Amino acid sequence: MADSSVKTIGILSSGGDAPGMNAAIRAAARRAISKGLLVKGIQKGYEGLINGEIVDLNAKAVSDVIGKGGTILYSARCAEMRTEEGIMKAVENCNKHGIDGLVVIGGDGSFAGAQKLADKGINAIGIPGTIDLDIACTDYTIGFDTAVNTAMEAIDKIRDTSTSHERVSIIEVMGRNAGYIALWCGIASGAEDVLLPEEYDYDEQRIIDQIIETRKKGKRHHIIINAEGIGHSIAMAKRIEAATGIDTRATILGHMQRGGSPTCKDRMYATIMGAYAVDLLCAGKTKRVVAYRNGEFVDFDINEALAMKKNLSPYEVELAKSLSYNFAMK
Ligand code: F6P
Repeated sequence: MADSSVKTIGILSSGGDAPGMNAAIRAAARRAISKGLLVKGIQKGYEGLINGEIVDLNAKAVSDVIGKGGTILYSARCAEMRTEEGIMKAVENCNKHGIDGLVVIGGDGSFAGAQKLADKGINAIGIPGTIDLDIACTDYTIGFDTAVNTAMEAIDKIRDTSTSHERVSIIEVMGRNAGYIALWCGIASGAEDVLLPEEYDYDEQRIIDQIIETRKKGKRHHIIINAEGIGHSIAMAKRIEAATGIDTRATILGHMQRGGSPTCKDRMYATIMGAYAVDLLCAGKTKRVVAYRNGEFVDFDINEALAMKKNLSPYEVELAKSLSYNFAMK
C-alpha cells in the first residue's frame, strides 16, 4: 500500500507519444487539484525526471490541451532509467520536488521504470499510452483509436489513386512488433492482404499469383497492408512489380500515425484513465497499472501486468482473410 496522504503528484509521458496523452495529463492534473494536491509536470519522460526538468502545473496550465495531439510534457526514450544510477537520480529528484505520487503514461518499458521507482518507495501508477495496442493487460491503449483512424483515412486516399491507375499498393503501418494497427486497418479498409508479424507465413508467390488472378477477373487495385514488424515494403513492391508486370507502389505511413487531434474515444478513455490513476494514489495504492478490460476500467499490479501475454484475436485474423476478394475469388 502507498501512503494514502499523497500530497504532490508528478506526471510524465514516456516512450513514443500518442494522441490522447494530453487528455490523460489534463485529467490527472485537474483531478489531483480538485482533491487539494499539488501537481508537477515532468518534462521529457524519465530523462526529465533524472535531469530535474520539472515544472509546476496548475489548472490553467492544462487548459486547451484535450484536443491536441502529442504531449505537452514532451516524451523521450531513456536508457539511463534502466540503470541503478538513473533510478537513484530519479528518486532523488522526486524527493527534492516533494513528489510522493507518480503518474506514468507510456508502454511496458515505462511501466518497468515505474515499478523500479515504486520499489524505492515512490508511489507510482502506470497508464497505457501507445498507438501500438501492445500492452497485454488492457484492451485499450491511449492513441490507438486515433492512429488507426488516421491510417485508415490515408489508406482510403491511396486506394483512390491506386484504382485510377490500376496499381498494386503496399501500405506499411506502424506497430513495432505487433500487428494490431495493421489488422484493424486491413479490415476497416477492405484490404486484399494483411501481413502480420504474429502470423508470419509470408508467401510472396501466393500474393503474386492472386494479384494476377484477381486482375484477370477485373479487380482494379490490390491493397496490401504490411505491418512495420515485417517491413521491407519498398523491396517487396519492386519484386511484386517485376513478377506481375503491374505497377506497384509502396507507401510507408510512418510518424503521421502518431500525430493529430485525438478521437472522442481517445479523449474520453484517456480522461478516465488519468483521473483513475490519481484516485488510486489517493486511495493509498501504488505499483498499479490502469487498464480497460472486458468493458470496464480496472487496475493490475505492475508485475502481474508485465507478465501477461496477449495475442491478436484469431477471429479477426481469420475474418481479414475470409472477407478479402482473394478469398472470395476461390
Ligand atoms: O511505439 C510507438 C511507435 O510509433 C511504434 O509503432 C514504432 O515502431 C516506434 O514507436 C517508432 O519509434 P520512434 O518514434 O522512436 O522512431
